[in-house]
Amino acid sequence: MSLSKPPSDLELQHLPSPSPRLSSSARHVLLAYLLGCLSASLVPLFSSPLTSLILAFSPPIFQSSPVPRPGSTDVHHYPPPSPTNAYPTLFPSDVGYPGPTPTGAEPALVATAPAYPIHTGAPHLLPPQVLTNHSHSHPDFDIFSHWGNLSPWFSVPPFVFGINSTLDPPNRCRITALHLLHRHGARYPTGSASYGGPANFSARLQSAPPFWAAHGPLDFLNDWTYKLGEEVLTPFGRQQLFDLGVSMRIKYGFLLRNFTASNSLPVFRTESQDRMLSSALNFALGFFGPKLEGQYQQLITIEAQGFNNTLVPSKTCPNAQSKTRGERALPYVREWAELYLQDARARLNSQIEGIELSIEDVYTMQQLCPYETIALGYSKFCELFTEEDWRGFDYSVDLNFWYNSAFGSPTARALGVGYIQELVSRLTNTRISVHNSSTNATINDNPSTFPLGQSIYVDATHDTVVLNVLTALNLLNFAADGPLPSDHIPVNRSFKTSHLAPFASNVQFQLLSCESRPEPQIRIVINDGVTPLGSVYGCPSDDPHGLCPVSAFVAAQRETIQKTDWAWACHGDWDVPAGHGWNTTTGEPPAKNEAEWGL
Ligand SMILES: *[C@@H]1O[C@H](CO)[C@@H](O)[C@H](O)[C@H]1NC(C)=O
Ligand SMILES: *[C@@H]1O[C@H](CO)[C@@H](O)[C@H](O)[C@H]1NC(C)=O
Ligand SMILES: *[C@@H]1O[C@H](CO)[C@@H](O)[C@H](O)[C@H]1NC(C)=O
Ligand SMILES: *[C@@H]1O[C@H](CO)[C@@H](O)[C@H](O)[C@H]1NC(C)=O
Ligand SMILES: *[C@@H]1O[C@H](CO)[C@@H](O)[C@H](O)[C@H]1NC(C)=O
Ligand SMILES: *[C@@H]1O[C@H](CO)[C@@H](O)[C@H](O)[C@H]1NC(C)=O
Ligand SMILES: *[C@@H]1O[C@H](CO)[C@@H](O)[C@H](O)[C@H]1NC(C)=O
Ligand SMILES: *[C@@H]1O[C@H](CO)[C@@H](O)[C@H](O)[C@H]1NC(C)=O
Repeated sequence: MSLSKPPSDLELQHLPSPSPRLSSSARHVLLAYLLGCLSASLVPLFSSPLTSLILAFSPPIFQSSPVPRPGSTDVHHYPPPSPTNAYPTLFPSDVGYPGPTPTGAEPALVATAPAYPIHTGAPHLLPPQVLTNHSHSHPDFDIFSHWGNLSPWFSVPPFVFGINSTLDPPNRCRITALHLLHRHGARYPTGSASYGGPANFSARLQSAPPFWAAHGPLDFLNDWTYKLGEEVLTPFGRQQLFDLGVSMRIKYGFLLRNFTASNSLPVFRTESQDRMLSSALNFALGFFGPKLEGQYQQLITIEAQGFNNTLVPSKTCPNAQSKTRGERALPYVREWAELYLQDARARLNSQIEGIELSIEDVYTMQQLCPYETIALGYSKFCELFTEEDWRGFDYSVDLNFWYNSAFGSPTARALGVGYIQELVSRLTNTRISVHNSSTNATINDNPSTFPLGQSIYVDATHDTVVLNVLTALNLLNFAADGPLPSDHIPVNRSFKTSHLAPFASNVQFQLLSCESRPEPQIRIVINDGVTPLGSVYGCPSDDPHGLCPVSAFVAAQRETIQKTDWAWACHGDWDVPAGHGWNTTTGEPPAKNEAEWGL
């Protein structure tokens, strides 16, 4: 199912002029009066819309300031296409005279500080002033961390992955390298959604008969317009990546000394998609400052259908596009929404006349809360729901990602394996020998675009790919969580999208050298939470700091690479039913012989 898109700018210009409306308070007095006088059965007798009826009463002053129809799309154009005062020669970017510019030592917070700074997520954004049923909310309930993949990243609570360790290295260990895999920052909604989709709600209001009117907490809807674009970063998303760059420089800046020693530059990778490139550049601005030239090299790989790209692997995996995306998780999300949103639906339907809100409408209104907040700073939609509704929403996103992109998806492991091959290549200083997944020989075989043995790697990607990689790594015993049920939220579930793949999510693969251990060690820190590696075959099951010898870790990854069959997962002739009819907890498709026997 595809989402109906908001009208483009061009289409908007050709829409009939919006009818002038009353100021909201004047209109509501009238509405209340009219609704009180007229029984619902009389309303359809009026041939003109209620709004024009009201206009008959309206003083002329209101006619001069037209207000857009509620639910219509609002678009502002910036920058102006041909500004009249642009004289680039009068505004050179380099005028000299910079003053003294001595630099100091590189920071090394992970090595020098007794603890680490907690990242709390959402500066500049305003949470709802009050939630529905707030007297029953927990005082410390944080709505920002209950938005699944739409949460701004935050330091996960200590111990949440099951290890009582922090990201600073254990005693007598020091960090020798960092491989960072991060997600882009907060963005507008994507162009398609399998369930809900905010643009869909705007279209729904516009296509509803004009008699509808909302009141009570939903009153704002009478004047609401849809202001969200599509796909690109929001200003807040920009800041998230800048901040992530700053934070990584403060924690790991000392690793730049290796580049000075070897007289070389780091290579960071991102993709051509607008939000990916903007994310990477904002990260670099935070990490290096505005004079980027001469400080690093930014590789921009192509994100488009048919291009091998480990950071967007689905583009060459037809089965991931046709059989799983959207459809596999849909029955679970739908079933769960039908359960957890019943009360909210009844409540909201009592606050609106003229439209019967469906469960999917109400779900979409919930999505509008995070989407408006991260784009516009604040959203009235957030207040419409209770703490319990938000816990339900968070879980709906987990269902979606578990079945579409992680342990419950038949293609997740194959999609994640390309990055694993690159990780192994970097960890072992050996080039990838066979390109039979999403790896790209042009990039990976060239020491300039894919250098080995570096002390800092930074790769930018998407939420789905972060989860593909965590699945291929077989991290965290998540498999034991699944299959996730669609009729309740499991107590103690560990798979939370808001912990693993929020906006600007960051997975830090740390390499360490420890006095007490002969071999180099690796550990994985997800959003500041150290993850146990016991589920990775060959790694110690009980290491208190999540350490694993690099050699054991690499052996386990080689095994995964061996037994992952990209050709079968991505091009094989298998099919699985959407929903409950079939399951995996390892992110694999039905085995080849099973499929051949028609099981
Ligand atoms: C408010 O929350 C309490 C505790 O969770 C619950 O028992 C009650 O039904 C809720 N009321 C509404 C209107 O949601
Ligand atoms: C975690 O470790 C700290 C210090 O090492 C200790 O004070 C704390 O009680 C531990 N927490 C748990 C849950 O074990
Ligand atoms: C909203 O999406 C649903 C399916 O997801 C679709 O059936 C419906 O037509 C859409 N509504 C509008 C107004 O676009
Ligand atoms: C590999 O990546 C490069 C750069 O993004 C691209 O030009 C090339 O087409 C890719 N190769 C394949 C086979 O997709
Ligand atoms: C692109 O991926 C396909 C499938 O794994 C592979 O056969 C091909 O060699 C790859 N191309 C390059 C240039 O890496
Ligand atoms: C970076 O330099 C340090 C100090 O010389 C060294 O211990 C470490 O192994 C180097 N890292 C890499 C990836 O070479
Ligand atoms: C959830 O975790 C807590 C604390 O670890 C434990 O006491 C409880 O038994 C667990 N509940 C379930 C249903 O596993
Ligand atoms: C790539 O080829 C190797 C050797 O032929 C095989 O073991 C492995 O399963 C293949 N990997 C993928 C990801 O298809």
